[in-house]
Amino acid sequence: MLNSINFGINMVLNRLFYILPVLLLSCSGSSETDSYDQLPVNSEFEAGKEVYARSCVACHMKDGNGLEGTFPPLAKSDYMLAEPKRALKQVIYGSDERMVVNGIEYTSIMPPQEVSDQEAIDVVNYILNAWGNDGGTVNQEDLNEVKKENS
Ligand code: HEC
Repeated sequence: MLNSINFGINMVLNRLFYILPVLLLSCSGSSETDSYDQLPVNSEFEAGKEVYARSCVACHMKDGNGLEGTFPPLAKSDYMLAEPKRALKQVIYGSDERMVVNGIEYTSIMPPQEVSDQEAIDVVNYILNAWGNDGGTVNQEDLNEVKKENS
């Protein structure tokens, strides 16, 4: 009797022993790829996507919708798409202006982002074209102008 209970427990433990790592692996594995893949992929903007995942996603979110009233959306943002160069300025110098984005007012603060020139250009090109945005691109010349205007 005891022996057969032991046997049963051993069977269960043995199974767990094999199944657990597989479960753990598949959980952590898939959540990683999920969070990465939910960022819209376009190979042309791959470099910017990585900057976004590192520096912007915490506030503006994976889907680019931000947090209403606190972090403005980048997906289909009328404000950003109206003046793409301004986005470059906001990434480098931050932003503490009152703004209305897609009809909602924002008065919060975006801190300057620690990115290189190239990363700033890459990430802005990414947000201009992710989530169905069709905002064109910015380049080094635009960045030079932004820096000149703000020096
Ligand atoms: C700590 C949170 C935070 C981080 C990180 C952050 N932002 Fe922002 N962002 C904000 C807030 C808050 C505003 C609104 C600022 C204001 O009202 O002046 C904003 C505004 C913007 C805007 C203009 C408004 C709009 O929605 O069109 C753009 C473009 C933008 N951010 C891009 C970025 C990019 C690109 C990154 C990463 C390189 C980034 N932000 C990182 C919080 C953040």
